[in-house]
Amino acid sequence: MLRDRRILLIISGGIAAYKSLDLIRRLRERGAAVRCIMTVAAKHFVTPLSVASLSEDKVYDDLWSLTDESEIGHIRLSREADLVLAAPASADLIARMAAGLADDLATTALLASDKPILIAPTMNLMMWAHPATQSNLATLDARGVMRVGPGSGDLACGEVGSGRMAEPLEIVAAIEQVLTGAKRLVGRRALVTSGPTREPIDPVRYISNHSSGKQGHAIAAALATLGAETVLVSGPTQEPTPAGVKLVAVETAAEMLAACEAALPVDVAVMAAAVADWRIETAALHKLKKDGGRPPVLRLAENPDILSRIAQRSNDRPTLVIGFAAETNEVVENARIKLGRKHCDWILANDVSLGTGTFGGDRNTIHLVEAAGVEDWPVMTKREVAARLADRIAGSLGYPPLHPP
Ligand code: CTP
Repeated sequence: MLRDRRILLIISGGIAAYKSLDLIRRLRERGAAVRCIMTVAAKHFVTPLSVASLSEDKVYDDLWSLTDESEIGHIRLSREADLVLAAPASADLIARMAAGLADDLATTALLASDKPILIAPTMNLMMWAHPATQSNLATLDARGVMRVGPGSGDLACGEVGSGRMAEPLEIVAAIEQVLTGAKRLVGRRALVTSGPTREPIDPVRYISNHSSGKQGHAIAAALATLGAETVLVSGPTQEPTPAGVKLVAVETAAEMLAACEAALPVDVAVMAAAVADWRIETAALHKLKKDGGRPPVLRLAENPDILSRIAQRSNDRPTLVIGFAAETNEVVENARIKLGRKHCDWILANDVSLGTGTFGGDRNTIHLVEAAGVEDWPVMTKREVAARLADRIAGSLGYPPLHPP
């Protein structure tokens, strides 16, 4: 519900402006007050009369209107709103926002806003893909402007591809999430693996790796924050168990696999653990002793690949299986190969070369590799990666993703 929430809706020029009329109705049905600004171009697509009738308020369109300024003023227009929404947000409006222009009422209100800003872009697919638009979007992302859509499908220009404005109900859901913290993964189950595994050599020694568990734990926390019932299967780490997450503590890869299988069925599985690829074939029951100077020979056996096993379950395969690829060279190419070999849906590839500080550090540079292509994420903290991933997961499981989280 959006009772008593105040939305400042900026309608810019695009054929999708007709959907804004329905959007206003949907917002009003939920109890929101909607005040609208129309750009000059918007009025070529829908009439101010329709917008005013549906919003039950006057339409603001003129930066220089003495009457409007004396009644409310352009600064108060955005200050009095709980959220500023640009829908449709045309390529032109996005460019003007990125440049910080304030040459009409819409851009002035956006520049003067101290409230969350959400945009619902729409444009022709070539315009969307153009480096200028993509760079403007990246600028807005970096400033915390949130985005819903665009989706892909038939475009008004007759072409098919990215650029369709999100549907009114998707936009409403995005607004509800921003304003009421609606938990988009309520009712969903998630499984996350984290940390290293420890493979015993004897009762006091083991082989393991440097994984800190920071990324896996942050992902479990982010999924739980969105309301998912989250099971975190983790090897030994120093990380505190995130609030609202069920921890299953394990040591070996075999234990991790068993705990993961026991957690099924889930909607999404994120395998962030650094599972030891090998174990000692037969761990000694008693502590190995130095034997007259001759070191013991340790025979290794390969561990089960948990990611691949979960991704190949026949009856209870999670809808979304996500793996990580820790690589030191040819990061994306190796991740692509891993995606196919392990039968998962997404691989988050990260560069763990010495010097990047990824292992044990707080930052991560991620490339999201899926069959359809690669998304390069900027350098982020592991918590930011987790939030963005949780948002993408919520989007993929049927809710609109918001960028940045
Ligand atoms: N993984 C797993 N079980 C294993 C090994 C890896 O579930 N026994 C998962 C990790 O959690 C990660 C992904 O597989 O999500 C990739 O791990 P990585 O160490 O990069 O790949 P490897 O399988 O070890 O492949 P390679 O050594 O060839 O890079």
